[in-house]
Amino acid sequence: MSTLTRPVCIVGTGYVGMACTLGLADLGWRIHGYDILPERVERLRRGIPPYREPGIAESLREHIDAERIHFFTDMESAARDAQVVIVAVGTPAREDGSADLNALWKAIEQLSLVRFATWPTIVIRSTVPPGTCDALAANVETWADLIYAPEFLREGSAVRDFLNPDRIIVGAEHPAVGVGYVQLLEQLQKPVVFTSRCNAELIKSCSNAFLALKISFANEVANMCDALGATSDDVLRGIGYDQRIGSEFLRPGIGFGGPCFEKDVKSMAHVAGQYGLGRELFSATLRVNDAQPHRILKILEGELTTLADTTIGIWGLAFKAGTDDIRDSLALRIVEELGRRGARMIVYDPAVPLAPLPLGSRLVHSALAATHADALMVLTEWPEFARIDPLAYAANLSRRIVVDGRNVLDPSRVAAAGLTYRGVGRWERATPEPLQLASGLT
Ligand code: UDX
Repeated sequence: MSTLTRPVCIVGTGYVGMACTLGLADLGWRIHGYDILPERVERLRRGIPPYREPGIAESLREHIDAERIHFFTDMESAARDAQVVIVAVGTPAREDGSADLNALWKAIEQLSLVRFATWPTIVIRSTVPPGTCDALAANVETWADLIYAPEFLREGSAVRDFLNPDRIIVGAEHPAVGVGYVQLLEQLQKPVVFTSRCNAELIKSCSNAFLALKISFANEVANMCDALGATSDDVLRGIGYDQRIGSEFLRPGIGFGGPCFEKDVKSMAHVAGQYGLGRELFSATLRVNDAQPHRILKILEGELTTLADTTIGIWGLAFKAGTDDIRDSLALRIVEELGRRGARMIVYDPAVPLAPLPLGSRLVHSALAATHADALMVLTEWPEFARIDPLAYAANLSRRIVVDGRNVLDPSRVAAAGLTYRGVGRWERATPEPLQLASGLT
């Protein structure tokens, strides 16, 4: 069996593992997927993906039917015939910001017991602190090569991102070791950067830290706009047109959530601390992010005077649009804080069917059902919220207040429905329009 006809083994079926599985199958490769959770493997065999993303259920079904993808509950069968073994297991953050690498070491230990048919290359794709892959490589050197190939996938578009990367980073001791992996992606025709494992680890963590920094910067600018009566939409758009800066990840809001950014910035701060280096920028990124939900709450409190005994309609619980993931969601954090301050919430998220909510709060199945409240808060940037005519819910909101924590609604349409609109750095256009209110009511 030549390298190119061997199956690719993928260890871990989370977001990264599944994106690799479906993306490589789309490129025509045969995949052996493995997960330590037998029930997850069972569901995958039946074509049920472990998370929501447009198109992945259909794609999974198609590849299973075409026998391009097989899932295994034992590592030996999954990995034996593979030359390339991709490891994409979770590396969650511990309390002190350091990465918990237990699952990664466990996967390597399991792989060390496999009787490989050929000398394998292990490709680590989990996010890890710098130095990790050199330590792993030293551990496996008697039976495998090990490289680090970070991913830059976003939830909600993971397979699309896998097939359309800006660059392919290969951290290897010698470029020759990475060739088998690069061949898998050759059809994508993307620039490949060969570098050391440690450099590749830094590229991944620092890219995420920079994106997080950009969001915190956008939030500080928006807060300044609020104070000055300026409009962050215009200010940040004007800044973003500078090609040296770029407009991506300059959207202000309630702060960044999700399983990656906070964890990666904390991990960088932790590493900087370990080496006695300054970590001010990382710490400030996190501080601004921690403060942002409170700023949004303060806006609501300012409008309602007190949060105690109020009913707040909530649009959005996922950490961002396009996913059902509520891990480290700042929307959830805001809902919890509202609960602590005595408010009850009526929550709607188009993708989240279940969530731990404060006592007295409930999830509802339509956006409008969540508006039978004193005020409405938008906490996830689902575009469909902007498509709902504010006149459809204006009368439901007894205190006629809308706090748009994601700047997704059109302030003038909301104001024209007779509601007070407050966005993030959109102070200038926040006032209701009495004339249009009068005409809206007649
Ligand atoms: C991120 C990185 O983008 C990706 O490269 C990496 O591989 C994993 O982490 P993800 O966490 O899926 O991806 O989501 P992303 O789209 O980056 O958004 C992260 C958070 O930032 C979300 O809460 C989102 O709402 C928020 N965000 C994003 C903003 O508040 N403003 C922005 O301009 C962009």
